[in-house]
Order: sequence, then C-alpha cells, then structure tokens
Amino acid sequence: LDDPTADPFAVAAAAAEDIARITGVERHDIALTLGSGWGKAAELLGETTSTFPATAVTGFSAPALTGHVGTLRSVVTPKGRRVLVIGARTHYYEGYGVRRVVHSVRTAAAAGVQTMVLTNGAGGIKNTWHPGRPVLISDHINLTGDTPLEGATFIDLTDLYSRRLRDLARSIDASLDEGVYTQFRGPQYETPAEVQMVKSFGGHIVGMSTALEAIAARQAGMEILGFSLITNMAAGIQKHPLSHEEVLEAGRNAEPVISSLLARVIGAL
Ligand code: 6GU
Repeated sequence: LDDPTADPFAVAAAAAEDIARITGVERHDIALTLGSGWGKAAELLGETTSTFPATAVTGFSAPALTGHVGTLRSVVTPKGRRVLVIGARTHYYEGYGVRRVVHSVRTAAAAGVQTMVLTNGAGGIKNTWHPGRPVLISDHINLTGDTPLEGATFIDLTDLYSRRLRDLARSIDASLDEGVYTQFRGPQYETPAEVQMVKSFGGHIVGMSTALEAIAARQAGMEILGFSLITNMAAGIQKHPLSHEEVLEAGRNAEPVISSLLARVIGAL
C-alpha cells in the first residue's frame, strides 16, 4: 500500500482472500469498524466464529493506540448474517497515508460486504449531548484536505450516511439524535476557535476518523451507517481540558448501552 504504483484494490482483494481462508467464510454481509470507546460494543452481536490479529491480513498494521483493539472477528448474527468486526483502524494522523486509512473498508467491500457500519469516539458540540451518548452521523465535513479517491473519480456523496439505515436505527431507539461529523486530521484536539468554526458552518461532532472511510465505502458501492459515541464535549464547550483518558473512560461507561444498541441495529439489518 505504500508503493504508489501498487493497486490498492488488488491489495484489498488479497486481504479479503486472507480473511476467507482464515475464517472459512467466503463472503461477509456487514462490516463493523470499532472506534475508540466501541472496543467491547460488538460482544452481543452473535456468535464469534473466528478471532485473528489484524497483522494476519495483507495490508493491515497493528494499531499504536490504547482503546483500539487490533483484532478482526467473524461473527454470525441470530438471523445468520455474517459480520466482519474490524477492531483495527488506521488513523489519518498516524501519517501512513490515506490508502492505509481506507484499506479495511476496501477489504470489507472485496469480502462481499454491502453494509458498512462505522463507529468512532468523538467530541460533541451540542451542549445537550453529554459524554456517553451515542449519536447517528447524518453527514460529514472532511477537513483533512485529503481523499481516498485517486485521479478523476467524481463521485456523488448525497445521502452518504444512508437515510434508510438511520431511520432503521431510530425505529430501534427513538432517542437517537443525529449530527454532522467533522473530520480533522488530528492528533491534537481542536482549539475552541476551531470548534466555534465548525459550529458556525453546521457541524455537531468533531473527530479524527470516519469521513475518509465513508468516501471509500461509497466509492465501493456500500450502504453506510455511522455512529459517534460522544466521549466528551469539544474544547470550549466543556470547562475542563480534554484528555485521551477521559475519552477511554466514557467508552467504558457507555459499554452496556452501545453494545445493546449495536446488537439490535445490526440484528435488524
Ligand atoms: Cl473533542 N476532537 C476530536 N477531533 N476527536 C475527538 C474528540 C475531540 N474527542 C474524542 N475524539
């Protein structure tokens, strides 16, 4: 993937073959990427039939960060649908380039996945959103200045985060609010002025992932569902300084709620 002359889709196809060989499952239906705070949220999805390290799959690397898992799993839901659980996200701020960031999404597509569920831990800008609250992503603003698309690939991003899937999620939990996710490059958190900028142009959630992955998922023709776990209020919205420890703690506290939410929503897909 680091070789600019390599075809990233061929690398993804090789990764999908690795997954089929390791799991014995030829095609997966759904993929779920676990963001910070979501590490244990896949526990109730169904029966795990294989667990394997990301490093066993072509093009994947071990995540550097606590709160990110580094393993993949194949799970079968009660309805018999196959879920590829991706506990290994490469973040754009790691600096390895956007091809590595979206490799798991392209691999999922090559493995047959039609529904991509992207989760993350993020800062909330609405002051009614308290830490531990999951929200649906309704749209995004990509402030990375980068894109997974190469060359003249003009794709439409209307309804990127599927309205059908958002409605389905709300039919399961009517209290789910939604908002516009803004991806910054990170790894520093935003300044209060940057948070005000996002607020003024219609963003509600700030984070360091997801938007680039959603673009790649759309390019691959998948339907996308996005969830942010509000782990803290963004800078200037909350009074105290932000910390990664606070983000992890919010994830731990929210575990029962988001595990049950994910199991019910994915169970209904
Ligand atoms: Cl406040 N900002 C960003 N960019 N990512 C976050 C966050 C804030 N809180 C958790 N992840």
